[in-house]
Amino acid sequence: MSKPKILVARATFPEVIERLSRHFDVSHNQADEAWTKAQLTEKLKGQQGAFTTGGERIDAEVLAACPGLKICANMAVGFNNFDLDAMTAAGVLGTNAPDVLTETTADFGFALIMATARRVTESEHYLRAGKWTRWSYDMFAGSDVHGATLGILGMGRIGQGIARRGAHGFGMNVIYHNRSRLDAATEAACKARYVSKEELLKTADHLILVLPYSPSSHHAIGAAEIAQMKPTATLINIARGGIVDDAALALALRERKIAAAGLDVFEGEPKVHPDLLTVPNVVLTPHIASATLPTRLAMANLAADNLIGFLVDGKPLTPLNPAVLA
Ligand code: 8YV
Repeated sequence: MSKPKILVARATFPEVIERLSRHFDVSHNQADEAWTKAQLTEKLKGQQGAFTTGGERIDAEVLAACPGLKICANMAVGFNNFDLDAMTAAGVLGTNAPDVLTETTADFGFALIMATARRVTESEHYLRAGKWTRWSYDMFAGSDVHGATLGILGMGRIGQGIARRGAHGFGMNVIYHNRSRLDAATEAACKARYVSKEELLKTADHLILVLPYSPSSHHAIGAAEIAQMKPTATLINIARGGIVDDAALALALRERKIAAAGLDVFEGEPKVHPDLLTVPNVVLTPHIASATLPTRLAMANLAADNLIGFLVDGKPLTPLNPAVLA
């Protein structure tokens, strides 16, 4: 019997390709070419499964051109690249890769909080440029992280990991806002207090965004929200581009409406708003919050497990639209 055909849309670990090849006839974008939507659609034609990353948009148009497609397995916890309603309507299962990246991503959230508050990259650029000629009492003075108020917008698994680090590791006063309030036991484990979005904006010394992107979270932080923050506050985005209005943020940073920002994700990435590249008080990283090799391997293996689980055994591990299975 011939094996089901799958497309691995981006380059990935050879051992994961080898695992997949035991079960499937695999087409692999080994050269990691950047495909247009039309190219992706062409490659997907005739495939039953797809291994995707956050960069491949699966929508009604793509699905209509690929009637044989049964599953798209995202190597990402976020799945805003999937039009899940269109996938459900087309009978295509979507899966994501939760849990395996939680602690690694929370570590990175904290790295950005620290780097932003303590002006790590700004001072490094100064040193590399040969500008460091003497010590000075206020040179690159930043703001304290320990004992400060940490605000978290979006309190899922990663948000909770950041809360635990802040409360237990740095003695921070942790407040959060979320669509729904956590149960008392989880709040106690995170030492986190639920507040309104308004109180979060007004009170946080360091505000970190960890909410999923959707039309309702588009520009959840824009000029009006930044205006409510303390002038000494920092803003960190490890969630998704589009949650922050990057143009408004760049202007606010330039005008010192807030002290600094740390950004791992951008509207329209990998393009970055040009104004963000010229303001000094922002730490910029290229969407690497989950980037340790063990974690990326675990994410790739979970996507592979979902493909094998569904196409071979009929049991995906982390389905997003289980209605398709009924
Ligand atoms: C991925 C992410 O690196 O898991 C997510 O949602 O944003 C990142 O961990 C990226 O989406 C590539 O799949």
